[in-house]
Amino acid sequence: MKNIYLNVYKSNLANLKKAKKSVENNGVIGIPTETVYGLAGNAYSEISIKKIFKLKKRPKYNPLILHYAHLNKLKEDVSINQSFTKLYKQLCPGPITFILNKKAKSKIPKIVNAGKKTFAIRFPKHKVARDLLKILNFPLAAPSANIFSKLSPTSAKDVVDEFNGKIKIILDGGSCKIGLESTILDLTSRPTILRQGSITQKKIEKILKTKVFLQKKINIIKSPGQLNFHYSPGLPVLMNKNLPINNGAFITLGKNFKNKKNYFNLSQKGNLNEAANNLYKTMRKIKKLKYRSISVCTIPNTGIGQAINDRLKKASFK
Ligand code: TXA
Ligand code: MG
Repeated sequence: MKNIYLNVYKSNLANLKKAKKSVENNGVIGIPTETVYGLAGNAYSEISIKKIFKLKKRPKYNPLILHYAHLNKLKEDVSINQSFTKLYKQLCPGPITFILNKKAKSKIPKIVNAGKKTFAIRFPKHKVARDLLKILNFPLAAPSANIFSKLSPTSAKDVVDEFNGKIKIILDGGSCKIGLESTILDLTSRPTILRQGSITQKKIEKILKTKVFLQKKINIIKSPGQLNFHYSPGLPVLMNKNLPINNGAFITLGKNFKNKKNYFNLSQKGNLNEAANNLYKTMRKIKKLKYRSISVCTIPNTGIGQAINDRLKKASFK
């Protein structure tokens, strides 16, 4: 029988060292973060970066996020500003990615960010990601560990399913606490959210004490997470439904829905954080059960509900 946990390693010291050795030798590994699992490689190594793009089938124009443990390393690669410092103090490590201007002296190869003038950077909070970053001499470039345009993985097993054994080391960090990708905030001009996440516009405005913009209509694609068709479970998704269509699956929220075989409740209590955490997990489960469509009830557009609706909208794009 096929071992479904192929290449998944417990996150102990011996395996962290194994992971370290692998990325030092241009290997690409799966790592847990508090948002979703990442496909990580040495950000200084062109060979590693090329491997990441190839494994993910990711278009070259779509830049990767850099992951750091400390500020000192970061300062070699980007110019920081006041807004960044304020947010860093309050929110990092945590589920937020900043777009900052690249420094000319940065050792990071151009293919990481498609030759752009900026880098996306983040400080993941997950202990395993941090423990690994702390023992490395370089940042990790890590997009979500899924094939381009598909659902992000929220467990080590999802990474196995996504890449069919092609990733030789996946550090197991359990199920991701948040389960949706980080908020992306562009700080190179007026603060603008490029991708919504668990850290909301309101929260950022409160810290910065200034208006934060939400990039809605996209002319130039700054962040392909903004592309219309993304986060796809591989079957039709229909939003704001009261019932499923043709015995398809129905994703519900709260206690007002029935308990039926094809009904999948994101949170009985109607808790949006719990719902966000269950969203990708539930869609993967529905796909495995071979349903032909996913209808979703109305999700309140507040707090992390905004990020849930953003992902659903992209997953349902035709
Ligand atoms: O939660 C997360 O952010 C996860 C974990 C693994 O850290 N990572 C993640 O990476 O979601 P990825 O590559 O799937 O999504 C990163 C997004 C992409 O849409 C990419 O286009 C955008 O960040 N991005 C990267 N560099 C950028 C830049 N310089 N300017 C604008 N957008 C950028
Ligand atoms: Mg992604």
